[in-house]
Amino acid sequence: MPIAASAFRPVKLEHASRLINHGPTVLVTSAAGARRNVMAAAWSMPVEFTPPRIAVVIDKHTFTRELVLASGAFGISLPGTTLIDLTWAVGGASGRDVDKLARHGLVTVAGPVLGVPLLEAGCAAWLECRLIREPHAEDAYDTCFAEVVAAAADPRVFADGHWSFRDDNVGLQTIHHLGGGHFVHAGAVARANPA
Ligand SMILES: Cc1cc2nc3c(=O)[nH]c(=O)nc-3n(C[C@H](O)[C@H](O)[C@H](O)COP(=O)(O)O)c2cc1C
Repeated sequence: MPIAASAFRPVKLEHASRLINHGPTVLVTSAAGARRNVMAAAWSMPVEFTPPRIAVVIDKHTFTRELVLASGAFGISLPGTTLIDLTWAVGGASGRDVDKLARHGLVTVAGPVLGVPLLEAGCAAWLECRLIREPHAEDAYDTCFAEVVAAAADPRVFADGHWSFRDDNVGLQTIHHLGGGHFVHAGAVARANPA
């Protein structure tokens, strides 16, 4: 059952790394001028605490990469389980051939710092990211580094700097790609006790 939209709440930048610490598959959004796009990415990770910086693999040949280099920014949105089909679809077609946001009826909100398009409906959280330019590496690597300049989450699944995965929020639980269109979603939280 689709989960109704809920107002996202800001996430402190000191907690931004926790949004992708557990390796969720994400939707990378981008825009440059009138062009805009969304693609799926299974490979992303935090790499620095302060300021929060992340690495995301964005293939050099994608339309997303072109828009990210043109604009110097991108968004990371974390789809919940209700968006598995969408994630698979936008990861299997290029924005050079079709406006994927329009095709799938995706509504974006503008990031508060850079105006990057971000997804909220069906998503657990988003991170607004400023590309760290590395001209010497742009032709060599698919990995992009970026500083997180703003973040927000649906408080039903992430609040006060912590994830809360429960039976009543499965629709908002992050998805994790196993390969070939198979996903698992985040499950029960197990807490480590001090030794
Ligand atoms: C589940 C899933 C995960 C993916 N992960 C990545 C990734 O981490 N990095 C990447 O460059 N492409 C990844 N892709 C492939 C891109 O999403 C795909 O090349 C997409 O069509 C690019 O779209 P674009 O040309 O509109 O930017 C993934 C695809 C799927 C379905």
